[in-house]
Amino acid sequence: MHAEAIDKDKIPAHVAIIMDGNGRWAKSKGFMTRIKGHENGVEALRNATTACAELGVKYLTVYAFSTENWSRPKMEVNALMRLLVGALSNELDTLMKNNIRLQAIGELASLPNDCFRQLHDVIDVTKNNTHMTLTLALSYSSKTEIISAVKSIAKEVEAGTLSADAIDEKVFASHLYTKDMPDPDLLIRTSGEYRISNYLLWQIAYAELHFTNKLWPDFTKEDLYLAIVDYQHRERRFGKTGEQLKVN
Ligand code: FPP
Repeated sequence: MHAEAIDKDKIPAHVAIIMDGNGRWAKSKGFMTRIKGHENGVEALRNATTACAELGVKYLTVYAFSTENWSRPKMEVNALMRLLVGALSNELDTLMKNNIRLQAIGELASLPNDCFRQLHDVIDVTKNNTHMTLTLALSYSSKTEIISAVKSIAKEVEAGTLSADAIDEKVFASHLYTKDMPDPDLLIRTSGEYRISNYLLWQIAYAELHFTNKLWPDFTKEDLYLAIVDYQHRERRFGKTGEQLKVN
């Protein structure tokens, strides 16, 4: 699949990705450790990020580490955190060159101190970049995000600054980590798994879903183009009929 096959007038504004299959990739290549898969996963992430930026995607949000991932073997968790720190400093150039702003969502306070600091440094240095926003979901759980939104809304109601009747979708969304971004138009999951795995549950209400058997480290720019062309061939009805869409 080539970039020319993509309709430049129908680029999804927000692409979300569940980068799955690093461990299986390492095993399939005969590596002794799953970490090799994560290392190669960083390269796939760089390719996907630059491809999205080139196409004019405005938001790319990737699932880098779930709250459930903390229960993996300590060695793997440490390696992933080290990889994150390394990638953040190595990729700063790429982010600046492509005018990309970095953001992070999740329970960031749970990250090791050096990760947390490095992450905030890169967020700070890139904060005025305007071409695209790359958001890392780190120590992220969508259910936790929703509960924390409910709690903060409940506190406002308790304090009398918000009436219960005024709670609508807009108010709710404004209490999520993703309050400053549009909902994803397209969600991609690699590795042949057909699950959402606690990722952006509220936000993907109307996203188009694209599943591929490719393991994440093998995911290329061409695979991203394929996902976008697939998205462009869908009829997005948002609950309306096909006929209604033709009239409006
Ligand atoms: C899923 O593969 C991948 C992860 C849990 C980590 C994702 C991390 C990266 C792509 C690289 C690091 C990212 C940054 C931002 C530095 P898996 O381990 O669940 O694979 P498996 O399902 O085959 O076991």
